[in-house]
Amino acid sequence: MKLTGKTFVYGIIGYPVKHSLSPLMQTAAFKALGIDAVYVPFEVEPENLGEAVRGLRALNVKGFNVTVPFKENVIEYLDFVDEDAEFLGAVNTVKIEDGKLTGYNTDADGFLKSLIEEGVELKGKKITMFGAGGAARAVGYAVLKGGAKFLNIVNRNFSKGKIVGELLGKRGNVLVFPLREDSVATLLKDTDIIINTTSVGMKPDDPLLFDYSLIPEGITVVDIIYNPAETLLLKAAKEKGCKIVNGLGMLIYQGAIAFEIWTEKKAPVEVMRRVLEEEIYG
Ligand code: ATR
Repeated sequence: MKLTGKTFVYGIIGYPVKHSLSPLMQTAAFKALGIDAVYVPFEVEPENLGEAVRGLRALNVKGFNVTVPFKENVIEYLDFVDEDAEFLGAVNTVKIEDGKLTGYNTDADGFLKSLIEEGVELKGKKITMFGAGGAARAVGYAVLKGGAKFLNIVNRNFSKGKIVGELLGKRGNVLVFPLREDSVATLLKDTDIIINTTSVGMKPDDPLLFDYSLIPEGITVVDIIYNPAETLLLKAAKEKGCKIVNGLGMLIYQGAIAFEIWTEKKAPVEVMRRVLEEEIYG
């Protein structure tokens, strides 16, 4: 890589940021298109967020991603926020132009693109989504934007589920349920697509989210976890003849959309996928 006085700088702010795969993915994308730019991780102590964002602007950085725990708090330091980010109250991508910062949320559209790529149709579908964290907001919003008929939110912490349900209810038919075997059993009898947005399944000794024998035959099951590539939920779904989708596509497309916002060029999605697959699965 040849750095020059004209090299553009992009990056990601987070705390911690060491685990982020974005530097790898975005650098590969810039290289593939011959764009003279670098993408670097910036670990920012939470109390320094405002100073860090002002610094990025002052240093004429062209754009940056925002990850945990800054997706919500970063908004107060921006000049503009796009519609999805405004609704979700969360920004994961910032573009700096003429000293002005605009915030975007590419998680929702990234999720939608990953489903389109896998041929998953959302229009008129009944969805049961597990989880009510930051990821659930973006995913739930996305499925309603994609035309889902009903969204059932199931969460262990019911009051947290209610808060997300109230927000997403502004965009479609949303019901909230506690994570209980009887409610899950009833819901899954009338569900076209199951989506897991919780962290359950990332570790080998994680408990099951629910009794996976309840998964109906032949439906679609999506897990936004990408490591392991097949969680126990996806394995069980596969055995039931379900179509399964993991979270790698969401990771790729949220990054691809950010790249396109910054560069106004089509992202080299296959290059981004290849470097991620190599890094994660070896
Ligand atoms: P993210 O921003 O990635 O969505 P998060 O905000 O920490 O992360 O949300 C994690 C989600 O996983 C929550 O819905 C959480 O449920 P609670 O709201 O009840 O905490 C869910 N989760 C984590 N561990 C869980 C477990 N062992 N069983 C059920 N749900 C779990």
